[in-house]
Amino acid sequence: MFNKRIKIKELLAQLPQEQQVTVMGWVRTFRNNQFIALNDGSTNTNLQVVAQLGKFDEDLLKRLTTSASIKATGIVVPSLGKGQKMELKADTIEILGDSDAEVYPLQPKKHSLEFLREKAHLRFRTNTFASVFRVRHTLAFAVHKFFNEKGFFYLHTPIITASDAEGAGEMFHVTTLPLDNPPKNDDGTINYKEDFFGKATNLTVSGQLEGELGATALGDIYTFGPTFRAENSNTARHLAEFWMIEPEMAFYDLEDNANLAEEFIKYIIHYALENNREDLDFLAARLADEEKQLPQDKRSEMGLIEKLEFVLNNDFQRLTYTEAIDILRESNHNKKKKFQYPITGWGMDLQSEHERYLVEKHFKKPVILMNYPASIKAFYMRVNDDANPAEGRGNTVAAMDILAPGIGEIVGGSQREARLDVLLEKMKTMDIPAEEMWWYLDTRRFGTVPHAGFGLGFERMVQFVTGMGNIRDVIAFPRTPKSAEF
Ligand code: 4AD
Ligand code: MG
Repeated sequence: MFNKRIKIKELLAQLPQEQQVTVMGWVRTFRNNQFIALNDGSTNTNLQVVAQLGKFDEDLLKRLTTSASIKATGIVVPSLGKGQKMELKADTIEILGDSDAEVYPLQPKKHSLEFLREKAHLRFRTNTFASVFRVRHTLAFAVHKFFNEKGFFYLHTPIITASDAEGAGEMFHVTTLPLDNPPKNDDGTINYKEDFFGKATNLTVSGQLEGELGATALGDIYTFGPTFRAENSNTARHLAEFWMIEPEMAFYDLEDNANLAEEFIKYIIHYALENNREDLDFLAARLADEEKQLPQDKRSEMGLIEKLEFVLNNDFQRLTYTEAIDILRESNHNKKKKFQYPITGWGMDLQSEHERYLVEKHFKKPVILMNYPASIKAFYMRVNDDANPAEGRGNTVAAMDILAPGIGEIVGGSQREARLDVLLEKMKTMDIPAEEMWWYLDTRRFGTVPHAGFGLGFERMVQFVTGMGNIRDVIAFPRTPKSAEF
């Protein structure tokens, strides 16, 4: 057996008692021809491995370069040097893999996040990214733990689908037809009957519709999987491939839905603070350092940990779309024409600058916006009976978006339209073909129930918790317009 090592994180939790151990990892630095700072990915804290002078031959010492991988065995003793309580006095050091210092792309110095994005295959070897990906793991684990404890079932909805759940039309096609010469119908359109599935298919934009099928039998389900959107949005908050968590609950209305979402978000933040404080402290320091470059008024009012604790200890602000429009219209920001998109009135869609104004300037806490105009939301949302034509207000739907400071929209969800006749009417006006959705409509035909659900963008959540400003830095290999490297 090769692997009889102790992980550095586990070792550092012990007392140095001359125990004999084997560690393996990558050399971060080697100084004074004697001190190796060894990292094995379990923690950002390196283990000092001491190669006593005279004990190892020069050839071996020359190969202890940054990112070389080694196996070291020896005795753990208290360290006399400052900065660490223990060190490993090596008896044997074996080079597992050399790393040519001349060509290794990362130096033991600070690199920009942009530079590291181009070296995404190696950026896990930096403290920042190691912390981000350990926190991402902790959050993913907390997601499953939360829903499991609540009796939800993890449902795997399809990645390839023939439906366009959001009706947004920004989908990646999936086909085996030859692109240079696809079979055509008489009218010149592509004949998908000859395609692999016998119909046009795409990568899923959301597992919700299938999730509803599960919830209306199993009660409470959630999905947690990749979703794909071919939106040409080159922003710090959009990916073409992102992970979404979509719980769907039978016998829930909009308020139940909002309560669950708030509890869920607080739970996973709390779990990360409890179980990965070391990495969060590192990321908090990184963020504070980064913000030192900014002018005073652009800096966050709270540090990362303080912000997370604030979110845990305060209720999210709940208000309706209509109330939000009133606040925005009356704001000085609007009156001084500082919005790029002015507030034109009830019925307009909110831009991210409006959402961020509400969250960051007005309420200074997470916000749950509810009951949006029906005309700007998806077909499946429950119609409220509140149209007021005299005030220029049409129907709203039982929608909710959760907006987070620094991020904007982090959750989108709704109570679903459970009434077959209302749903059919809505689909007609929105040009959604009812024949193709027969399976979805069957849930409304056979024992329909009030139900609701939401989608949390996992990367946006990871951004919020880690304080990373760009979504490309919280997913291992980001997929964005014109970029699918690695
Ligand atoms: O608001 P969205 O489009 O809602 C849905 O897909 C619903 N079917 C969810 C449901 O009710 N089950 O997306 C949900 C969340 C957004 O709030 C955002 O956090 C994230 O998914 N999201 C993205 N994250 C990264 N890149 C993108 N291009 C995203 N688009 C949406
Ligand atoms: Mg949305």
